[in-house]
Amino acid sequence: MGTMTTGGPPAVPATTGVVTTVRAAGAYDVVTLTVPDAGTWAAARPGQLVVVPVDPTRGSVLPEVHWLAGVHADPVHGTSLELVLDAGRDTAPGEAIRLLGPLGRGFSPPSTPVPVVLVGHEAGALPLRWLVTMVRQRGCTAHVVLSAADPERHLDLVHLRRHARAVVLALPEDLPAALERVLDAPDVDAAVVYAAAPVPVLREVAGRALARGLPVRAAALDLDGPGPVCGTGLCGGCDLEVPDAAGTRVLRPCLEGPVVPGELLVEEARR
Ligand code: FES
Repeated sequence: MGTMTTGGPPAVPATTGVVTTVRAAGAYDVVTLTVPDAGTWAAARPGQLVVVPVDPTRGSVLPEVHWLAGVHADPVHGTSLELVLDAGRDTAPGEAIRLLGPLGRGFSPPSTPVPVVLVGHEAGALPLRWLVTMVRQRGCTAHVVLSAADPERHLDLVHLRRHARAVVLALPEDLPAALERVLDAPDVDAAVVYAAAPVPVLREVAGRALARGLPVRAAALDLDGPGPVCGTGLCGGCDLEVPDAAGTRVLRPCLEGPVVPGELLVEEARR
């Protein structure tokens, strides 16, 4: 394990993971990799990133940026990571993948067992897949609301249904109403809303939840957006204009987040 300096902010740990299993999940593969160092990964959280640097020998010209989908530290079998990769990548057992990570600020699960609502959209919901297991371990009940334009784009529903009290599926245009119904339900009684989705969806979710006085934490990096992202603070492709005391400022989610308070994403606050 070494440290790769990216030439800008910040120096990040680099390691090589070896793919041990690949499980098909709709349009995605759930990929497990063993990594040599437990310490770096043990404190990792949902909402943090892993970057696969450019590798000219594999023909890649852009870094791959992925949500870290899980970490399992086992004193006997070592440490393994989970990534959820596009099935079209053709990831195969035995493949060695050089990784930078874990990067960025992840979600903090509640310190007490409270009801939580998780909201996501298609592959952008990936951090919620790990978060739902973490909040359940803390005694929280989780209600999940997901949108997707195509049912195939919902991420690993079997896993989510195993850990959540309920999983509500909606078309993208129906997500706001579906969220309102969940937040209205007396048996939900949410204490916090976690969201992982493209930024326009996050703004919608944050506006509705904050209007009810609910705290919102959102993973504000769109890995499936129109432009490439680097995940390491170098490209500016993730920059968002957000409110601050002087009016507005530029937030670079891959450095300051990706998980940020919902207040930064509310449209009204930007004007
Ligand atoms: S993704 Fe490149 S600066 Fe944030």
